Amino acid sequence: MSKYILDFDDYMTAEAEKRGISKPQELYEPINYLLSLSGKRIRPLLSLLGCAIVSGGHRAALPAAAAIELFHNFTLMHDDIMDKSAVRRGQPTVHEQYDTNTAILSGDAMLVLAYESLLREAKNVTILPILHTFNSVAIAVCEGQQMDMNFEQRDHVTEAEYIEMIRLKTAVLLGGALKIGAYCGNATDNDADLLYQFGENIGIAFQLQDDILDTFGDQATFGKRIGGDILNNKKTFLWLKAHENATENDRTLLHQYAAQQPQTTTEEGEKIAAVTHIYTKAGARAAAESAMQSYYQKGLIALQKIRSNEAEALEILYIIADNLMQREV
Ligand code: IPE
Ligand code: IPE
Ligand code: MG
Ligand code: MG
Ligand code: MG
Repeated sequence: MSKYILDFDDYMTAEAEKRGISKPQELYEPINYLLSLSGKRIRPLLSLLGCAIVSGGHRAALPAAAAIELFHNFTLMHDDIMDKSAVRRGQPTVHEQYDTNTAILSGDAMLVLAYESLLREAKNVTILPILHTFNSVAIAVCEGQQMDMNFEQRDHVTEAEYIEMIRLKTAVLLGGALKIGAYCGNATDNDADLLYQFGENIGIAFQLQDDILDTFGDQATFGKRIGGDILNNKKTFLWLKAHENATENDRTLLHQYAAQQPQTTTEEGEKIAAVTHIYTKAGARAAAESAMQSYYQKGLIALQKIRSNEAEALEILYIIADNLMQREV
């Protein structure tokens, strides 16, 4: 795994150095700030592995992997404004560290830089399928993010609606990262599609785990404020399952807490503790973990259909998927 991450980090460092001397510095510094924080780099790793599995080498996918990571960090910069999140990767979010207008504009610039990086592929492979995949992913993320915000205002959301929302906001990017990486290695459409299916399913499992950690994780490890989803009235899988399985009384409480806007840090803490308690009583965490496992298994079925001479790269993909299911970060 390390050779992929090392090559990727070298590539990103060189790009960051160029931005470091670009002007106006107020635009580029927040980009380098967010990218310098310790993200897991899962999506670029998926792109590099997608390429390695179909072609034996990963370097052809480096610019595309950088594009994917730039795009991901752009979504995070804007997501943190939308979710009113003050902490990410254990550090102040960009709109906290700088200000909201800066986070909007630096985010916009990141999206453009992502496209520019993607176009560096044009020399070696057909850019159209890559660009088309990237565009479908990017618009899907916007659709999923809007659904996520719409659901905050709703009294109820079905499981199917929730899964569709996280498929769009999160899973398509993991699938897309693999597919684009595979195209950089001149993959057949069949292999690119199987890798996509694997990525999309583990992406759904990944967001389920993100929801679990947002309530039950450890802030120092997870790097985000625990209880943020509860304060935002997010209709997470935990909320849905608690709503489904809670006592009549607890169900009423869930609605009351959703209608209530805490005014102080103490009130916020009370809301988080009370809703978490209802989740626990209703067995919501176990239900989310079991859904996570089933999407993980679906992902593995797609992966098993891939025939590759690159046993090592394929093996790493299995390990990554397995690690993601256990993650605390
Ligand atoms: C966070 O993604 C956003 C979600 C889709 C849950 P990651 O958990 O991959 O964030 P970093 O890049 O490692 O910080
Ligand atoms: C992430 O959803 C989706 C995108 C950033 C597109 P979250 O809002 O749950 O992500 P975190 O928890 O803030 O990283
Ligand atoms: Mg969000
Ligand atoms: Mg968020
Ligand atoms: Mg989250």
